[in-house]
Amino acid sequence: MASVVILISGRGSNMRALLEAGLPVAAVISNNPTAEGLLFARSHGIPTQAINHRTFPDREAFDTALAAIIDTYQPDLVVLAGFMRILSTFFVDHYQGRLINIHPSLLPAFPGLNTHERALEEGVRIHGCTVHFVTSKLDYGPIIIQAAVPVLTGDTSATLAARVLAQEHRIYPQAVRWFLQGQLALTGNRVEISSASDGQTVLCSPEIKL
Ligand code: GAR
Repeated sequence: MASVVILISGRGSNMRALLEAGLPVAAVISNNPTAEGLLFARSHGIPTQAINHRTFPDREAFDTALAAIIDTYQPDLVVLAGFMRILSTFFVDHYQGRLINIHPSLLPAFPGLNTHERALEEGVRIHGCTVHFVTSKLDYGPIIIQAAVPVLTGDTSATLAARVLAQEHRIYPQAVRWFLQGQLALTGNRVEISSASDGQTVLCSPEIKL
């Protein structure tokens, strides 16, 4: 049966959404041995492993060891769910076409950290989240699905983050489901989805009240 390995670094709320969606998760792996998400995965009977990046001399050594652990599960898909490590080219190439990430912005806007603060600083009216295939460029790669949320008067980074996170929990299970059902096809930098005949399915957009 098709299977997924999820990589996390902390809270693991996206991992939780994936587990609660009933997706076939073979294991959850974290670079942070105290990641909160590991406890939730364990309590749901999912095998977990922690591999502390601080115990490796460099990025390549860590990524090589991480890939060796992932590969013992022979996953069809590797899912980054709040995995806060930059990955080496070797790692990205090894999982080319079967490595996806969720990022809390409407990429290509706001790659990197502090996306909600930066969205507020820039005064954007619409913010959101993106699920994309991973390439060696940080927070960049063929986009599978995005969800947009309005930026409201009085928003703080916390209120905006919460509105975006609720959408992350909707779109990530959908993207993984599409992948496992063989519905995603990559053409250059574009992802075609066989079930999505119009833009509605791949962009979840807010109702804008004028
Ligand atoms: C999520 O908002 C995810 O989009 C973000 O980290 C958070 C993890 O939360 N990922 C990135 O910023 C990756 N560039 P979670 O651990 O509760 O899923």
